[in-house]
Amino acid sequence: MLRLGLIGYGKAGQAVAGVLRDDPRFDLRWVARRSAADDIDLPTVELDAATFGHWLDRHPVDGIVDFSGADSVLAYGEAIRRRGICLVTAISSYPAATLDYLHSLGRDIAVMASPNITLGINFLMLASRMLRRIAPFADIEIVEQHFREKPEISGTARKLAETLDVRDEHITSLRLGGIVGHHEVIFGFPHQTVRLIHNSIRREAFGTGAAFAIDQLSRLGPGFYSFDQLLLQLISDELQHEIELGTIKPAFPDSSGRRDRLPA
Ligand SMILES: NC(=O)c1ccc[n+]([C@@H]2O[C@H](COP(=O)([O-])OP(=O)(O)OC[C@H]3O[C@@H](n4cnc5c(N)ncnc54)[C@H](OP(=O)(O)O)[C@@H]3O)[C@@H](O)[C@H]2O)c1
Repeated sequence: MLRLGLIGYGKAGQAVAGVLRDDPRFDLRWVARRSAADDIDLPTVELDAATFGHWLDRHPVDGIVDFSGADSVLAYGEAIRRRGICLVTAISSYPAATLDYLHSLGRDIAVMASPNITLGINFLMLASRMLRRIAPFADIEIVEQHFREKPEISGTARKLAETLDVRDEHITSLRLGGIVGHHEVIFGFPHQTVRLIHNSIRREAFGTGAAFAIDQLSRLGPGFYSFDQLLLQLISDELQHEIELGTIKPAFPDSSGRRDRLPA
């Protein structure tokens, strides 16, 4: 069982804590936040660079999940580096210097930073990229729907457009009622249409993504990883396993997938 600490216990952190506590793979040991409020039945500490190392020695963990603010890693980074603790951070946006610091942590410990930690959206992005490779001739449109008050095009829709190399004019935004978040990528083929759809339902989805990430990360050595890399690692391990079992056969003996490398 992985022993975890959670940094940040706000709107997202509370939902994530619930998911981690319900998951038998994890033992959520404590929560760190700006204030030492006591609205949770877990040990809670006020994050302070001067004392956090002592806290970790008394409350050891294998991994940390961060849903706090962009500056907090500067308070705990060195303490986890020295103790070889892996880190999943979901902070939406870091200043460039802090991102450089996270990369430097990756030289000593396993770190994953993801501004979008929802498992389903990351899978949607990967699947869309694959389909674009398979069918580069297909038209692509992106539709995003959110609650009436959301002002701008969603960051996820822009990221999808960037990933798929389509211009922002191909994003349609609808604002209605209380929709939490709907993203759809439509591939228009000449004789068929493929729609890949993700709907956000509750904040707990962030917890599912964080759980996937910390579980995968705990098996890896030091490095700075993206959510994509963790997904690809899992898919590649699964494919390798299926090949070993003989349930799938690689198209070519050397698995290179290239006809021109087959013997004549
Ligand atoms: N990647 C994703 O998909 C994803 C999804 C959701 C949220 N997020 C990110 O997660 C973060 C939290 O979002 P939220 O909506 O939960 O915000 P929130 O409700 O304002 O909660 C922030 C929490 O972080 C704590 N905190 C803030 N700065 C801190 C610091 N310097 N040191 C220690 N604790 C600190 C706060 O402590 P107190 O409780 O003491 O005030 C609070 O518990 C944001 O950066 C957000 O962008 C990312």
